[in-house]
Amino acid sequence: MALRVAVTLGLPDRLRGDGATTGQVATELGVSPVALELLLGHLATLGIVEHAPTGYRTTGYGTILCTDTGNELTNFLHLDMAGGRAELAFTELLHSVTTGDGGYARRYGQDFWADLAENPRLRASFDQQMTDRFRTQIPGIVAGYDWDRFPAIVDIGGGHGTLLAAILAAHPRIRGHLLDLDPTATEALGTFAAHDVEDRAQVTAGSFFDPLPEGADAYLLCDILHDWDDEHAHRILDRCVEAVPPTGRILVVEPVGGRRAGTEFDLAMLVIFGGRERRVDEFQALASAHGLVLDGVIDLTGQRCLLEFRLAV
Ligand SMILES: C[S@@+](CC[C@H](N)C(=O)[O-])C[C@H]1O[C@@H](n2cnc3c(N)ncnc32)[C@H](O)[C@@H]1O
Repeated sequence: MALRVAVTLGLPDRLRGDGATTGQVATELGVSPVALELLLGHLATLGIVEHAPTGYRTTGYGTILCTDTGNELTNFLHLDMAGGRAELAFTELLHSVTTGDGGYARRYGQDFWADLAENPRLRASFDQQMTDRFRTQIPGIVAGYDWDRFPAIVDIGGGHGTLLAAILAAHPRIRGHLLDLDPTATEALGTFAAHDVEDRAQVTAGSFFDPLPEGADAYLLCDILHDWDDEHAHRILDRCVEAVPPTGRILVVEPVGGRRAGTEFDLAMLVIFGGRERRVDEFQALASAHGLVLDGVIDLTGQRCLLEFRLAV
């Protein structure tokens, strides 16, 4: 919590370089100087800051908590960002393990997506987190599968469109259609323009619990089903099966349980969303209820697999 509060107050950034006195920083931030001194004392114990002639300054090690370092730590630690706020749902882990339900709504009074819809800052930080977390994954996901088989791909819950844009940029024959909630969906237009693929990319703002754009060759669900319990996952697959033509495919990209998923992240999906990293047999059980057959599983990267489903003939 000391690290979370330090990041939320921006202390590693503020104390970089020469640093500052506790009194100066307390005045700037409008916090208790006595309490801030306690926090800084503990941050010094942790090696994040050190004593300096000017008061405290951030150590070389502590700069990993600065916002411009390009790592994802601040997303998960900042209490006013989606990731940091969501991690506090871990205080409800006992409830989640007891009931099998998520803990986020119990802690915050509404589920994660409703919280984001109400708070644009949380929504923006979540979208940024999604972009940051995929920076190293996208090349492997694009290179690891024969996307060119599909002239038209719908990316369901495609976020800011970084994955779809990379697929389109690598395959000039493919047309893409991204669906997500607004404002995220509309902002994806900027991603497509930045990748010079806007002439082949279409965006729809809407919910994947409603009818989806019909007739595409592939429906991509990247890190979608693990956000949901079985009831909601079935509703999403219902919509996919309604929209996909008989020769089309449903492509699930996720950290598959027991294969590419980390155990800590698995618990995070449970407490934050009431979801989980399903194993291959669990995906098969889920999909077979919709007449879907698993055609193959590919390990795309160290963290993501792709499961290809088709309609049973
Ligand atoms: C974990 S993110 C994955 C984003 C993207 N597929 C990726 O891999 O970077 C889940 C996405 O689902 C979207 N989402 C959540 N509920 C939705 C709904 N009811 N309809 C459409 N999109 C939704 C979120 O806005 C978010 O962009």
